[in-house]
Amino acid sequence: MQMWDQRFSEAGFKYGTEPNAFLQEAAQRLAPASELLVPGDGEGRNGVWLASQGHAVTSVDSSRVGLQKAQALAAEKGVSLCTALVDLADWSPQPASMDGVVLIYVHLPSAIRRRAHLALAQGLKPGGWLILEAFHPLQLQHHSGGPKDGDMLYTPEQLSAEFEGLLQPVLAWHGETVLAEGPGHQGLAHVTRWLGQSI
Ligand SMILES: C[S@@+](CC[C@H](N)C(=O)[O-])C[C@H]1O[C@@H](n2cnc3c(N)ncnc32)[C@H](O)[C@@H]1O
Repeated sequence: MQMWDQRFSEAGFKYGTEPNAFLQEAAQRLAPASELLVPGDGEGRNGVWLASQGHAVTSVDSSRVGLQKAQALAAEKGVSLCTALVDLADWSPQPASMDGVVLIYVHLPSAIRRRAHLALAQGLKPGGWLILEAFHPLQLQHHSGGPKDGDMLYTPEQLSAEFEGLLQPVLAWHGETVLAEGPGHQGLAHVTRWLGQSI
């Protein structure tokens, strides 16, 4: 069983059932009934919340257990969520098909990240939004969550360089915040927030 299936097999929701705070703020920019892709949605807290806001949401993840829990959460909240089991290492959305791509704590190793980020950015329609929150390398000094491997942590500068020519950055920020997201993310954290619009 893969690592994320194992983690999501535990009782409860690793990152809670409430949406990420930055996503809630950034989502105000989305047009009503947007077509959204949520890669690495795990147990579905963010995709389900976006669906509850009236958006058409597809959540993709490589964890079968995570996606099953996401569907259960969607049913509990009375919303419809489209899910697909994919590996972001070799999967791409239909080009120019989405109004928004939402990446919340999807920490990919650099060997696959650049191609995956490029493919996801190309999945946006012109004017579409990419909303991302992830841990910054300075998170290594905290104990509030995230991988302990610097290669999987993101700086805003790195993201701006990766998306250059495809997305216009609107916010490229890093700093401290206090996380209260289930047992997985708790306490003072150093995060990167990146928001951009497809050119
Ligand atoms: C830290 S969890 C975050 C889950 C969710 N975004 C949230 O904030 O609650 C990371 C998620 O990324 C998914 N993931 C990691 N590598 C992946 C890959 N190569 N392809 C698809 N999903 C992946 C994991 O299965 C897991 O659900």
